[in-house]
Amino acid sequence: MKSLLDMPVSCVDTPALLVDYAILQRNIQRLQEASAAAEIAVRPHIKAHKTPQVAQMQIQAGAIGVTCAKLGEAEAMAAGGIEDIFIANCLVGPTKMARLVGLAKHVRHLSVAVESIESARQMSSAFSEADMQLDVIIEANIGSNRAGVEPDAAVEFAKALADFPALQIRGIMGYVGFAYYGGGPEDFAESAAREAKALSDVAADLQEGGFEVQVISGGCTPTAGRYQKGCGLTEVRCGTYCLNDHNQVDLGACSRQDIAATVLSTVVSVPAEDRIIIDAGTKALDQAVSDLTEGYGWLKGYEGGNVYKINDEHGYVDRRRLQGDFAIGDKVEIYPPRICTCLNLYDYMYVIENGQVRDVWQITARGANT
Ligand SMILES: Cc1ncc(COP(=O)(O)O)c(C=O)c1O
Repeated sequence: MKSLLDMPVSCVDTPALLVDYAILQRNIQRLQEASAAAEIAVRPHIKAHKTPQVAQMQIQAGAIGVTCAKLGEAEAMAAGGIEDIFIANCLVGPTKMARLVGLAKHVRHLSVAVESIESARQMSSAFSEADMQLDVIIEANIGSNRAGVEPDAAVEFAKALADFPALQIRGIMGYVGFAYYGGGPEDFAESAAREAKALSDVAADLQEGGFEVQVISGGCTPTAGRYQKGCGLTEVRCGTYCLNDHNQVDLGACSRQDIAATVLSTVVSVPAEDRIIIDAGTKALDQAVSDLTEGYGWLKGYEGGNVYKINDEHGYVDRRRLQGDFAIGDKVEIYPPRICTCLNLYDYMYVIENGQVRDVWQITARGANT
């Protein structure tokens, strides 16, 4: 694969995941600058890119560490040299506990979300046995109605954590997923403010209850860069923002020029007036049909051409709506609707700069679903 270095993009065999280096760098920088202006630290969620080199770019730009959804992602980041990791998810079960202790031995700082007594008990017992301490961040349900303790139960929950001596409460987190389902761009700033207020209120209750709150963690891509100085958050966990995808465009959170990741595919058949067949199907494109984006991806550089159907190895491009046409052998780039699920299909990303392959990075946390 390294033999492709400095070769034109057209030399990359398909289907393949491309990442435009300049756009990636610009997206990372933009969040960092906006957050610095609001005096909020950045701890990006790596679920979108799953690649240590991208995490290192984020840290070089000023991020204080990374956020992971899965223990496996955290293990991959630790192996890639990332020293400060927050797992923003519920962890349960003996296998996970043993892995968590192992991970904690290999990084400078590890913290984990907690929102149930059962998970707290398991983590505390595993860390006590290892004679170690673990920093925990209480997850509050601030309106996404997923996991998390209810805000008015947070103080009681924090008090209950006193039974688990290996756990140190460091702060509070919430997920502003509702920003995705509001009224679009006009509502992003309001969602950000609503989230920050909800989390700050919980933090104030905890402080009143005698708990030290060092971390107030929130953020997602639609609210990225929309937090005001003094809003209360100490760090944001935006994830998709660095690569972006067509969902974010349809949501109004970015433009197509901000999408760094595309799937490179080859036209393999032009069988009829209504369709073009490409070599990217369910194994190469995001299958999660979304409320926001029509179909399975849009063609970069063309108006109106979307992939309207996919089989395992074939994608169907709507030829009637496409402004432009293709011949067998042509290569096309597709904007995935959701990059998190699409990127998880690839072992490598081809990093493109000025139309050439700048580097090939292994997506080491790809498939790290446990
Ligand atoms: C807990 C948590 N934090 C942060 C994020 C990042 O959100 P986004 O990809 O919108 O930036 C997610 C995304 O699912 C999440 O679940």
